[in-house]
Formats: sequence, C-alpha cells, structure tokens
Amino acid sequence: MDSKDTSLAALRWLVEAGADEAIGEVAQDRLAAPAPIPTPPKPSARKLTSNDAVLASARDLAHGARNLVQLRAALESFEGCPLRQDATNLVFADGNPKAKVMILGEGPGAEEDRQGLPFVGASGQLLDRMLACIGLDRTSVYITNMLFWRPPGNRTPTGHELASCLPFVERHIELVDPGYLFLIGGTPAKTLLGRSEGILRLRGKWTHYQHPGMPRPVPALPSLHPAYLLRQPGQKRLAWQDLMALRAALDSGKDPLLAG
Ligand code: URA
Repeated sequence: MDSKDTSLAALRWLVEAGADEAIGEVAQDRLAAPAPIPTPPKPSARKLTSNDAVLASARDLAHGARNLVQLRAALESFEGCPLRQDATNLVFADGNPKAKVMILGEGPGAEEDRQGLPFVGASGQLLDRMLACIGLDRTSVYITNMLFWRPPGNRTPTGHELASCLPFVERHIELVDPGYLFLIGGTPAKTLLGRSEGILRLRGKWTHYQHPGMPRPVPALPSLHPAYLLRQPGQKRLAWQDLMALRAALDSGKDPLLAG
C-alpha cells in the first residue's frame, strides 16, 4: 500500500467509526475541572465484589419481578450499580404502562434525580412538545431510561453502569410489553439493538428488538435525543420525520417491518 492508499484507508476507518457524526448527547467541556474522586460506598450498601456477581444479582432480582411494582422494589434493593451512591432518587418511569409506545432515554439528569421522574428537565419539556405534535402525552406513552440513577455531572455512563442496569431494562420491556419502542439517543439504540453505528445512522430505521423473554419481536425506532436537539435545532426536521413514522405505525396498528 502506498501512502495515499494508507491515508484513504485511515479516513474510511474513521468515517466507519462515526468520526463524522455528532454522537454525544451532552457537549464535553474539556476545560472543566477533573471529575471529583468517587466517594466510597455508603456503609449500608451490600458490597458486590465482582462484575459477575453484580450481573448475576441484577439478573436474579430482575427475573424475580412479576410486575412493575416488584421491579421497582427490586431496583430499590439492588446495590450493584455504583451510580446509586451519588444519586438522590431512583428514577424508574413515568406515563402509562398500558400505552402502546414505550420511550427509552439514556439516564436521569439533575432535575430527574431531584424529582425521581424521567424527562422532567429541559429535554423532557422538549420531549413533551414533540410528543404533543403527534397527539401523544404522558397518558399515551410510557417513559423510562437505560439507567435508573443519574451519572454525576451528567457524564457519559460507563459500560459497567449500563450493564448493571440492563437486566432491569430488559425485564421492564418484558413486563410493559409495548407495541412500539421509541429509542431516543445513541445509548438506548445501540445497547438494545446491539449496534455500533452512531445515532445519525441508526435513526429513522425501524428495527426489531428481540429478547428471549418477549413473546414476539417489538418494532423499535431509534431517534434523536431532545438534549441533542436543544443544541442542534437544525436537526429537528429529522426528529420530526421519526415522529411522523411513529404516528403512522400507531395509526396502522401494524408492525412497520412486516406491513406490506
Ligand atoms: N435525558 C435522558 O436521557 N433521560 C432523562 O430522563 C432526562 C434527560
């Protein structure tokens, strides 16, 4: 390979890795002071020593939950996610668990942590306005997150934090058994659909979410996170296309991936 080929291959690799996309939900302040050193766990926290033990405990607790009340109680008793040490409240869900649409975001921010409810801060207000545009509100959707506690300073969650919450998220989806999943932001889209592309590549494309506990695959539509739209209002037209696709699926009552 000559040096031109090498440069082209490097460029192709960077584009495939998503270097041409804005993938973060929260702008990184690289001049900010370093994150504070984590405080040691509260003495009450049952210590789970290895990743395997944490994941086994999460799976056992989540699978043991027969309904949403039990799932919430299981999370209250789960000490394996380090985020709970710094959080004020568990942020479980809001809206109507019988709704056809289940919305998943990334994780609680400061206002959500304070109130113990998902999407109640600035991005939640934008989400409410977006939903209102297609005739939905919190009586006709069910809203939750991939994380049940706030990452300090809204930092990007670690793989371990996401993994420790994942069995609860999967059980949450099983128990709600929604008709459609609306995945807002890269974190829920990539984690639940097992994809590595950035959200700008995934959004707007219906994909089946499948999990052994589900009676059938659920059509899932990745879309843009309202926090991203607040920073990039020009991208609202893409979110609008996704909302229209969700509305059309709801109106048809069909699986958009199977509808002829
Ligand atoms: N961003 C999220 O992803 N979830 C919330 O609940 C709030 C902001």
